[in-house]
Amino acid sequence: MKDLLKKVEELKSEIESDINVINNADNLEQFRIKYLSRKGIINSLFEELKTLDASVKAQVGKELNLLKRDTETIYQSLLEKYSEKTEFKIEDATLPGRIYNIGTKHLITQALEDIIKIFVKIGFKVYDGFEIEDEYHNFDALNTPEHHPARDMQDTFYLNSEGKDKRYLLRTHTSPGQIRVMESQSPPVRVIVPGKCYRNEAISSRSLAMFHQVEGLYVDKGVTFRELKGTLDYFAKEFFGKNIKTRLRPSFFSFTEPSGELDVECYLCNSKGCRVCKYTGWLEILGCGMVDPNVFEYVGYDPEIYTGYAFGMGIERTLMIRHQVPDIRMFYENDIRFLKQF
Ligand code: DAH
Repeated sequence: MKDLLKKVEELKSEIESDINVINNADNLEQFRIKYLSRKGIINSLFEELKTLDASVKAQVGKELNLLKRDTETIYQSLLEKYSEKTEFKIEDATLPGRIYNIGTKHLITQALEDIIKIFVKIGFKVYDGFEIEDEYHNFDALNTPEHHPARDMQDTFYLNSEGKDKRYLLRTHTSPGQIRVMESQSPPVRVIVPGKCYRNEAISSRSLAMFHQVEGLYVDKGVTFRELKGTLDYFAKEFFGKNIKTRLRPSFFSFTEPSGELDVECYLCNSKGCRVCKYTGWLEILGCGMVDPNVFEYVGYDPEIYTGYAFGMGIERTLMIRHQVPDIRMFYENDIRFLKQF
């Protein structure tokens, strides 16, 4: 024990004399390596300490700890003193100042904000759904049964394999947001759910593996299909302009009955028919319908009392129409020449 206590004493004076000659960042670093690093002298004494008898360990340990603490304190204060401070020098005071370009919101963000505004104006609330969902909310509760093709591995990014536990996935649409809202509140509900969706698609000018949707849901006593039509018409006029022509076609979705799809006239050919609209003159922007009573059963709403409508629109698709963007990939290539136009 004597030995080690003596070593600590000697080390203390060695450190003190070393401190006196430190005059720049380099020799401060040398000092740190010598005494305070993992392989430094102080640590090596701690190693030695381990071999001492328990009865004397405490006393020597205390001395050593004090020395370590003091050395670290001095090191920190010297570090502040010698750490590099850049000097401010004026090279040429006549040089013109730098002009920083102010960024703008991405087109997708702008569109989401526009759409939110349009619906908030008529009483919708915004709900943030989850991008990671479970199979129940993304499919089952939306009346999409187990062997439905939409659940195929080809289309859905599953996050874990089938097993005893819940199966998680990246939501393939914003519709599970409807279920989350209805589970957590009773009618009336009037919400939109904007956000990212994911599908295992082959990337092309028309599809990406990540895209955005905005979901809408309105449930109350006596909600009618006519109200759905009126709301969608209002939306289209606000978003595309007063003169936009729309049409509603019958369609099928497992969570709405009856279901429809809303088309707007093709921007390229003015509805005359071209390659983009596949010679139909129309472009689809959203799916919609009256909430299927089965969905109400899943969330515990009484379908004898309540009715509701829902819709879901693809944002990239809708923007391609509004701004005549020929390729969906352009939204995400970060080409400043493209982004600057909006
Ligand atoms: N979730 C559907 C899709 O991704 C779109 C959709 C259709 C949403 C009908 C709805 C709806 O709410 O009622 O293709």
